[in-house]
This record gives sequence, C-alpha cells and structure tokens, in this order.
Amino acid sequence: MSALRIGVVGATGAVGETLLRVLEERRVPVEHLAAFGSRDRDAAVRYRGAMLDVRSTTGEALADRDVVFFAGGESLGERFFTDLAARGIYCIDNNPTFRLRNEIPLIVPEINATALDERHRILPVGNCTAILLALALAPIRDTAGLREVVVSTYQAASGAGRAGLEELDRGQRALALGEYEAPAVVFPAQLAGNVVPQVGSFDADGWSGEERKVAAETKKMLELPDLEVSATCVRVPVRTAHAESILVRTERPTTREALQAAFENAPGLAFHSDEIVTPRDVEGRDEVHVARLRADGNDGTRFALWCTGDQLRKGAATNAVQILELLIARGYLQ
Ligand SMILES: NC(=O)c1ccc[n+]([C@@H]2O[C@H](COP(=O)([O-])OP(=O)(O)OC[C@H]3O[C@@H](n4cnc5c(N)ncnc54)[C@H](OP(=O)(O)O)[C@@H]3O)[C@@H](O)[C@H]2O)c1
Repeated sequence: MSALRIGVVGATGAVGETLLRVLEERRVPVEHLAAFGSRDRDAAVRYRGAMLDVRSTTGEALADRDVVFFAGGESLGERFFTDLAARGIYCIDNNPTFRLRNEIPLIVPEINATALDERHRILPVGNCTAILLALALAPIRDTAGLREVVVSTYQAASGAGRAGLEELDRGQRALALGEYEAPAVVFPAQLAGNVVPQVGSFDADGWSGEERKVAAETKKMLELPDLEVSATCVRVPVRTAHAESILVRTERPTTREALQAAFENAPGLAFHSDEIVTPRDVEGRDEVHVARLRADGNDGTRFALWCTGDQLRKGAATNAVQILELLIARGYLQ
C-alpha cells in the first residue's frame, strides 16, 4: 500500500487535535497531512513535531486527498461528501448527520467491522457516549442477549468542544475567586461546581438530542433494532472522559462470573473486578473501562455496571483512525 494523503477538517478543535495525535501515535502511513479549519492560520497545529499551517476548507483543497477526516461543524459533510465520494475519496465523519442512514454503516471496529464494504465512501463515527456504551454492552449481548438498557451518563465538558472546556475552566476560576455565578453560554446552566441534566436541546417529548442519539445509535452499532434503550444524559464538571451508569436486562439468565469472563476477553475493554475507575484514570487512554459489575435480583437477568472512557479518543478520534486502519487492512486504499 502506498503512503496516504490525509486531510483533517477541524484540526484546531478538540477532536481534530486528538486525531492528529492518534494518527501519529498509531504510526498510520501518512505521506502528507493537510490541516483545515474555518479560516487560514499559519503554524497553528502540531503534527510529528512540526507546526502545520491550517487552511480554510474548500472542496478543491480536499480533492487531492485519499482520506478526509471531518471533525468540524455539523453541516460540513453535506457540502463536500457527494463530490469527494464521487472521486473515490473516503470521508470519515465525526458529525451526526449521516450516522442513522440505512445504507451507511456505523462502524465500531471491535463490534461490527463486517458491516464495512468497499463501496462505502462516507463513514460516520458514532456519538461518543454511544460508542462507549456499545463497547460495554457487546460482551453482554454475546453472552446472554440484551433486552433492555437504562443508562445515566456523566459527560465531560470537552464533549462540547474547545468552547465547552474553556467555559468550565472560566467557571472554576471564578468559583476559586469566590464568585458564585459564572455565566453559562455553551452549557444551559453553570457547569463549574454543578451538574447539568441537559445535553443538547429537548424535543417535544422532553428527550434531549444526546439522549435520542445514544438510544438510536447504540441499537444500530449492536445490530439490535428492537433493544429498548433509555438514556438520561447529564453534563458534569470533568474536563475529559465520559462515564456511564448502566442497568441491563438480558434475554437469558447468566451469572456475574460469566459476564466478567466475557468482559475480560472483549477487545477494546479493560475490566476492573475489584477497584473503581474514574474519568481521571482513563484520560488519554483508548480502552473503555468497565467496573462495579453487580447482579441485581436473583433471576440472573438484571445487572448493573459502570463504564468510563476518553470520549475524545475512543469516542471520536481513535475510532475514526481505527476505521482508516480497517480500510488499509482490507486493501481498499491500494
Ligand atoms: N468533543 C467531543 O467529545 C466529540 C465527540 C464525538 C464527536 N464530536 C463531533 O466532532 C465534531 C468536532 O467537535 P469538537 O468537539 O472538536 O469541536 P470544537 O473543539 O469546537 O472544534 C470545531 C472545529 O471545527 C472547525 N470548524 C468550524 N466551522 C468550520 C467550517 N465552516 N469549516 C471548517 N472547519 C470548521 C473549527 O475550526 P476553527 O478553529 O477554524 O474555527 C475547529 O477546528 C463535531 O461535529 C462534534 O459533534 C465531538
């Protein structure tokens, strides 16, 4: 395979910066990397020890790439994908726009790599909370089937990008100075010293956008369209790494020991049988961490667990780079 010409749109953002780091760490055979954003800036992002210029994103500038990662604004893909796909360029997209289209797979390589085939040029990366959840649920599905999932999330500020992180940092500085109120702009209420039970806007039935995405995308990733998933998504004053408290009902009775064995053998997971694991422990790591596994009741069909993972890595950048690695391994980029 020849070395690749890669584009990263949104390279100055929280996900884009992580993408550059993950591409470097995983030694992806990149011949040339071009960084894009909303406007031109010289020497604005670091890649392989050098500062790269960031250029404004145009179809023309993207057209000589083999693969383009999109980690910019939500509607960007629609502007460029048709043209790029027609040229045979693979678009790996962190935006939600295309994730639930029937003809487009939603690849989490550890779970559903078989859904990818050579014709697919638009490859969305799932919602970060849903990727972590699906990875934690897949071993349960494979051991005893899955009937119902109830999840409450504890989502980090960087899930709302750079602006979210900056708002948390400003709020925490204000609190440290004894100023109780820090104005909320990115989040619907002050996040510093608080928890905020709203991620995204509410629909007419009272569900938030994030809650809808988590339910629909988890079902698609696990290829379980009839699974019942109920999510309550909450923002917490943590910089990076989401956590989730999960209650599942299985199709068939099983045991804590059988699930523990399944978690210990699952790719992309780290299982903790005794100790707790927190977002701080997993920042910068690629695995999803599962802990606090408990049987709930005596009939062997209800279990509670905790999971946490770095949503900028496995929930976004690492999963995106793993999709590229899959394309390479399959020989689609010859
Ligand atoms: N943060 C997460 O945990 C996470 C997880 C999964 C998926 N995502 C998704 O990933 C995408 C990026 O999120 P983020 O958190 O990295 O956001 P972010 O920190 O706010 O960064 C946004 C990036 O998009 C660029 N951008 C904005 N408008 C643009 C335009 N018109 N043309 C080209 N580039 C543009 C910005 O470039 P400038 O610096 O030039 O403005 C910046 O590089 C979003 O779609 C988000 O939903 C985020």
